[in-house]
Amino acid sequence: MGVQIARPAPPAFELRVPLEGDADAWFALFDDAEVMRYIGDGRVQPLEWYRAFVTRQQALALETGLCLFSLVRTGTAGEVAGFVGLQPWTKPWGPTGRLELGWRLGPAHRGLGLATAAARVCLARAATRGIRQPVSMIDADNTASIAVASRLGMTLQSEHVSPSGARVLAYGFAPSV
Ligand SMILES: CC(C)(COP(=O)(O)OP(=O)(O)OC[C@H]1O[C@@H](n2cnc3c(N)ncnc32)[C@H](O)[C@@H]1OP(=O)(O)O)[C@@H](O)C(=O)NCCC(=O)NCCS
Repeated sequence: MGVQIARPAPPAFELRVPLEGDADAWFALFDDAEVMRYIGDGRVQPLEWYRAFVTRQQALALETGLCLFSLVRTGTAGEVAGFVGLQPWTKPWGPTGRLELGWRLGPAHRGLGLATAAARVCLARAATRGIRQPVSMIDADNTASIAVASRLGMTLQSEHVSPSGARVLAYGFAPSV
């Protein structure tokens, strides 16, 4: 049997309903073709898009208590690292109407365990609201994101083809019996 080396916890963080200023932070983090490579049609979004996105997430949080939360590094003077959380999958293809658990980090904040740890917090928040079957929609080539889903205990549930022709995998939790 191999020796287990204890790893320190990921850096300290909090998840908050996004503030207006988080649009600027997300735009700065995600204005990067590599970050957006496996998201939608792969295009980066302008600042205005993130402003509207923050407004949508604030409304969702008011309505449901859940949203794509801003992930804030509390050990580094409140630096915004990305977002993690849940929002309805509203596209006409795939698991329309279900809640999608999603994550997106700026490049400097990867490889620290933050996405997985934050997703666990979101799953606990969702469970207190009776939501136990979120789905994660992941491009089949997005190995880093598939690894997050796997670490959370999610498994492949179905496969889809997006309108832009990408193979997208739906990861979820097997229903408990
Ligand atoms: C998907 C994405 C969030 C994954 O980020 P990530 O940093 O790999 O995931 P985590 O934050 O959970 O970190 C896990 C990594 O940190 C490492 N790690 C380092 N210290 C750690 C610690 N203390 N605890 C846990 N993991 C740690 C893990 O080993 C793992 O690395 P590995 O996969 O090379 O083994 C990131 O690649 C991303 O934002 N991509 C662009 C946007 C995107 O595609 N979003 C998903 C759309 S479906």
